[in-house]
Amino acid sequence: MAPEWVEAGRVPDLPPGRVILVMGPDDLRLAVCNVDGEIYAIEDVCTHDGGSLDQGELDGVEIECPRHGARFDVRTGEATLMPAVMPVQTYPVRIEGESIFVGTAPQAEPQAEG
Ligand code: FES
Repeated sequence: MAPEWVEAGRVPDLPPGRVILVMGPDDLRLAVCNVDGEIYAIEDVCTHDGGSLDQGELDGVEIECPRHGARFDVRTGEATLMPAVMPVQTYPVRIEGESIFVGTAPQAEPQAEG
């Protein structure tokens, strides 16, 4: 099924290294990140204890949770540093002109550890 797309602002308003919070349907929170000109979207909920990842620091391809310092690769959602072990969900991004759209259907189900 084709994903529903939400408008997530304009590319010029999201310079490299920045993260913005975008709300989707059903209170879906998305952290939309610019990594060196590539835009990625992940669920804005840390899998450790629900921290808001959009409030964290984007360092290269990794975002750091502001609560206890877990890190996630925003390209894949993979947890790269404890205390988080479960990945965050990733979402597709489409650019049209200067507009950013994020698909609200997840790209893939997160994989359980073990
Ligand atoms: S809630 Fe994100 S590291 Fe604990």
